Parts: sequence; structure tokens; C-alpha cells
Amino acid sequence: MKLYDIAIVGATGLVGRKILEVMESRNFPVGKLKLFATEKSIGTKIDFKGKVYFVDKLTAEALTDFDFVFFSAGGPVSKEFAPIAAKNCGLVIDNSSIFRMEDWVPLVVPEVNPHRILKHKGLISNPNCSTIQMVVVLKPLHDNWKIKRVVVATYQAVTGAGQYAIDQLEDEIRKLPPRRKKFPHPIAYNCLPHIDIFYDDGYTREEMKMVNETKKIMELPTLKITATCVRVPVIGGHSEAVNIEFEKSFELEDVRNVLKNSPGIILMDDPKNNIYPMPIITNNKDEVYVGRIRIDETVKNGLNLWIVADNLRKGAATNAIQIAEEYILRK
Ligand SMILES: NC(=O)c1ccc[n+]([C@@H]2O[C@H](COP(=O)([O-])OP(=O)(O)OC[C@H]3O[C@@H](n4cnc5c(N)ncnc54)[C@H](OP(=O)(O)O)[C@@H]3O)[C@@H](O)[C@H]2O)c1
Repeated sequence: MKLYDIAIVGATGLVGRKILEVMESRNFPVGKLKLFATEKSIGTKIDFKGKVYFVDKLTAEALTDFDFVFFSAGGPVSKEFAPIAAKNCGLVIDNSSIFRMEDWVPLVVPEVNPHRILKHKGLISNPNCSTIQMVVVLKPLHDNWKIKRVVVATYQAVTGAGQYAIDQLEDEIRKLPPRRKKFPHPIAYNCLPHIDIFYDDGYTREEMKMVNETKKIMELPTLKITATCVRVPVIGGHSEAVNIEFEKSFELEDVRNVLKNSPGIILMDDPKNNIYPMPIITNNKDEVYVGRIRIDETVKNGLNLWIVADNLRKGAATNAIQIAEEYILRK
């Protein structure tokens, strides 16, 4: 079997470590493996498939001759180093938002738009975590009943904001002096209708990522879609309440059947027996879970549903590895 040389930039972070975990669990054919982070992490030991690897300092010169370079070290690092890696390596898969809306960059969710993968010019962007799990469900529904409008509210876990966010939640729950503050308000026993920065029109950047990335991935530039994104005191797993208006009429049973038979989706919809998706169920799972499927009688052809996925797996690491797997298959 051909092995692929891999570099991970941001290997000590939540997403970087999850990429390693997913590569191991999916038996990704890894050859040479190099791990990069900041100066403070140089020499940190990380175990992969029973072998110890040491974290190195990131330099431009080091990013040469890899088949795949995964970036998960934030926007500024991707901005500076990803174009260099794209020039000197096979393919960059970038978790930051910095290149996602650039015309030359494919923004890929393999269940939705895998045909974009081979159109890359050295770099593919991994979409926002909340967008990924939603479009996996929207795509088969759109193919069958044509979506007219989407209204989504999210309930996003703190792991979506990195390690410092977990530290803040845990310190607040244990009533410990805060090590560091990621959010502008307490997150324990609270909800913050605030993810990323606010724009002048009152929307946040996270909300506009969901709007713009969904249109790009689904290739529906005129889709009507609006979002409210909320941070909740859950460690891992993003939830979404999604209201959809279709062009065509549908039967609920057909919706359930289509979702049940679509790639990457697990249908969990038996509310009378307390069966519905929850973040704790999706922990460390690669699939997107959907349930609470019901008709919205207030509009023509309206549907409500509830979508949950592990934001570090399908929302980040798994989707990135699936892009690499699809690329290997299609090349
Ligand atoms: N968390 C999610 O659910 C999620 C989902 C999708 C996308 N993302 C994106 O993925 C990226 C990483 O998120 P995360 O949650 O993993 O954050 P994190 O836990 O804070 O980890 C950040 C990583 O980047 C490294 N890093 C930071 N500055 C660096 C620099 N100048 N040079 C080299 N390495 C540097 C850190 O190294 P040290 O350990 O040495 O500081 C660490 O390995 C972000 O762009 C985020 O928006 C996150």
C-alpha cells in the first residue's frame, strides 16, 4: 500500500490531536509524520500508532515534500505558512477560515461536494464545524425537495473555541481562580449568544460563516438562510435546531427514509422512547445525528429537525481526513 508523508501544523491543539486520533482509527496510510506547534511545545512527545513523535518548531523551510499538510493553528498561521506549504507539498487541508471564501479554494464536505476536490490549486479548506454538520443533512433533502429557506439556531460546545475555552468552563464549575478567560462572560451555567466577532449589522462572524459557507458548498448562491449561533456549557458536540422550507411537498416518512439512507448520517428519531440525538451520544463519532423530525405547520412545506455531531470529529478532524481519503481515491 502506498504511504503518504504527513505534516500537522498545530499538532498539540484540540483539532491537531484529533486529526492524529482519526488517522489512527481510520488506518490512514501514514509514511513520514512531522508535528509542528509553537516554540513552547518543542520536544513535546505525542504518541501515534505506538511510536513516539516529538513536536518541532514551525518554519517555512520545514514545510517541503509532504503529500498532505494539515493546518489547525489558527488563521494567522495558515495565512503565513499555508501558501508556502501549498507550493512545496502535495495538498494543504486548512482548518482555519482564512481561505474558505476565496474563489480559487475548494470548500469541501465529502458527502456534499466531493467533485470539488480535484479542482484544488494546492489548498482545500475545511469548512466551519457548524456548517459541516448542517450541510451533510441539507444536501439529500435539497436533492429531493429543493430547499427554499433555512433558519438555524446553534448550541455550540466549548471545544469549538479551543483548549482555553475548556479551561474557563472547568475553572468556573470548580470555582477555581481562572487560569485564562476565553469568553467575555461566564460560560458555566450560562449561554452566550456570541461566537466570534460582531459585525455592524448585529450578526456574528460565526453566523455569517454558516450562511456564506453553506451557499458555497451547496452551490446555491441565492439560498435564503439565516443563523443565530450560541455557545453553551457543553464540552463537546454541537447541536442545531433547523427549520427548512421546501419548494416541493413531502411525507415525513420519506424524509426519514432519505436521511437514513444518506452517507454520513445516523437517524435517531423515536422521541416517545426518549430517543433523539444529544452531544454525549455523538462523542468521538464520525457521523452526523439527526432527529426530532416534524412538520412545521406555520409555512407551506415546512420541516423542523435537530442535528448533532462531534465538532472535533466530523466538524474538523474527520472531515479533513475524509478529504484526504477522497483525494487519494480520485487522483
Ligand atoms: N475546535 C474546533 O471545533 C474547530 C473546528 C473547526 C476548525 N477549527 C479551527 O482549527 C484551528 C485550531 O483550533 P483548536 O481548537 O485546535 O485550537 P487550540 O486547541 O488552541 O490549538 C491551537 C494549536 O495551534 C498551535 N499554534 C498556535 N500558534 C502557532 C504558531 N504561531 N505556530 C505554530 N503553531 C501554533 C498551538 O501550539 P501550542 O500548543 O504550542 O500553543 C496548538 O497546537 C483554528 O483555526 C480553529 O478555528 C477548530
